[in-house]
Amino acid sequence: MKKNKHSINNIGIIGAGTMGSGIASVCAMKGYDTFIYDVKKEIIEKAENNIKNSYKKLLEKDKIDKKDVDTMFKKLRFVDKLEELKNSDLIIEAAVENIDIKRQIFRHLETICKPDSIFATNTSSISVTAISSILEKKERFVGMHFFNPANVMKLVEVIKGDFTSDEVLKTIVDLCEKLDKKPVICRDTPAFIVNRIARSFYGESLKILGEGNIDHVTIDNVMKQEGGFSKGPFELMDLIGIDVNFSVTKSVYEAFFYDPKYKPHPIQQKMVESGLLGRKTKQGFYKYINI
Ligand code: NAI
Repeated sequence: MKKNKHSINNIGIIGAGTMGSGIASVCAMKGYDTFIYDVKKEIIEKAENNIKNSYKKLLEKDKIDKKDVDTMFKKLRFVDKLEELKNSDLIIEAAVENIDIKRQIFRHLETICKPDSIFATNTSSISVTAISSILEKKERFVGMHFFNPANVMKLVEVIKGDFTSDEVLKTIVDLCEKLDKKPVICRDTPAFIVNRIARSFYGESLKILGEGNIDHVTIDNVMKQEGGFSKGPFELMDLIGIDVNFSVTKSVYEAFFYDPKYKPHPIQQKMVESGLLGRKTKQGFYKYINI
């Protein structure tokens, strides 16, 4: 049998926002040498503080093993130069949901990384095939869609782009299992599985809110108490980030040739323009004081 040339020891994460920070802590805790990079220095510092504080709190509450936290801090490095990721066996990109930025990042990575390192994107809605189409070695490119919060949620959608090799796909599925995640292989269709279905959950809730008769707290409570959901749509949008959710909505709307079913809502646009992005800015549909 042919030997798999991809052995993952060293992982580079691009983007130290909500998802990048979570994914990096998962990889480091499982013993992978993990380097996390962001284009903004202040975000890297913020990510380091946030990760330290949140794991300190989990330790104080006895919700996590001290050995795991020690491993994580030993293995996790915060860097401000993309070049420091050049020895990565795998890169997981979790930068903003914008195809041009994602392509630019991978084009740069192609000039510095080893020819057999695997490139993965955590995109929620952009075509994996389209991102990879500008690369020289498209077969090393795959989607690896974690869910928020990445250190808690088990599911990872592993997206096979039109060019992704079977070997790369298998390596990523195996890695997800080693990270104690549940990988599900998906085809490269707009928004894959969960986000496609979730469009109506957010879209219809925004429409009801926009009609003006029911407030967001009531809608969330009905969905939780009567619908059995663990979080309501507005709580979830605040967790995801109103900006991220708006970008995903726009990209799915475009991908389905402006099918009205997926139309973004003006409430999303107004909130993004006003900087009301959810938990990460301490105000979205709700206000957050102690986070
Ligand atoms: P975020 O806004 O919290 O973080 C994005 C980070 O990317 C920012 O820190 C920004 O400075 C950085 N960035 C921008 N351009 C960059 C560049 N050229 N190089 C390096 N870093 C750069 O966004 P979030 O929520 O972490 O989302 C990141 C990706 O993960 C998006 O593609 C999003 O669709 C996807 N995603 C988001 C989920 C969520 O619930 N927020 C869930 C699953 C996937």
